[in-house]
Amino acid sequence: MGLENVLIEKRGRIAIVTINRPDKLNALNIATRNDILEAFEQLAKEDEVRVVIITGAGEKAFIAGADINEFAGKTAIEQRGVMKGRRAFDSVEDFPKPVIAMINGFALGGGCELAMSCDIRIASSKARLGQPEIKLGIIPGGGGTQRMTRLIGEGKAMELMLTGDMISADEALALGLVNHVYAPEELEAKTLELANRIAEMSPVALAMVKASVKNAARMNLREGLDSEVDLFALCFSSEDKEEGVRAFIEKRKAEFVGK
Ligand code: COA
Repeated sequence: MGLENVLIEKRGRIAIVTINRPDKLNALNIATRNDILEAFEQLAKEDEVRVVIITGAGEKAFIAGADINEFAGKTAIEQRGVMKGRRAFDSVEDFPKPVIAMINGFALGGGCELAMSCDIRIASSKARLGQPEIKLGIIPGGGGTQRMTRLIGEGKAMELMLTGDMISADEALALGLVNHVYAPEELEAKTLELANRIAEMSPVALAMVKASVKNAARMNLREGLDSEVDLFALCFSSEDKEEGVRAFIEKRKAEFVGK
């Protein structure tokens, strides 16, 4: 695929996307954001891929944020143009399959924002998370003020973004910013185990769950409930719904095909 800073590895039904700039703690420069966009565009088309895991190369970092070197000397107009790079985060949020962030180390700034664009976050006990933009005299620009507020509530999100403090994986767990914390040596196996369990479900239904849960932040309650009923009913047009129901009645494991 000719990606410069992103690796894609397939493990059965799982694709692992690795941000690969370990010398720079996987900081997101423009080229890397473009690679992320391209990688997810490609993976959306590959039916055999049912769940994606995103992680960072090396021992230290998931992603230590936007590449700060690219901020120096930029004008507002130039930076506004670059912020089309936000599309990389949106493409993960809108990706039609579940995406799990495997947070193997620092997840700061754009790294924390990318993790929050994923559907589930699993952290190593040595991970550190935060939105330190305030220390650079700027604010999060990749969805941080919006996604973190929705995820952990205004009070805690406000404190993290006003102070720029980094928090531990266990603190992130207590806040609901990550779903699980594991020892570094267990992180990959535990994340793959979860990904594989999800990958056994109907891809049609997984896409519907994702879309409907995301609607909770995009619609008011009445619209969200109406939309959920429509998506629920839409599942009844899938072969997977017939298979799931038949398998239950026949007391066997369902084999979902994604149709
Ligand atoms: N942008 C560009 N380069 C970065 C970076 C970023 N966000 N984060 C780390 N790097 C680079 C460092 O400049 C260094 O490069 P060098 O070896 O060429 O000097 C390399 O990655 C290793 O980082 P270093 O700072 O030496 O590691 P550390 O263990 O001492 O500190 C951090 C780790 C994460 C605390 C520190 O790198 C940091 O504060 N990074 C910036 C985090 C941030 O503010 N992100 C939000 C950006 S909006």
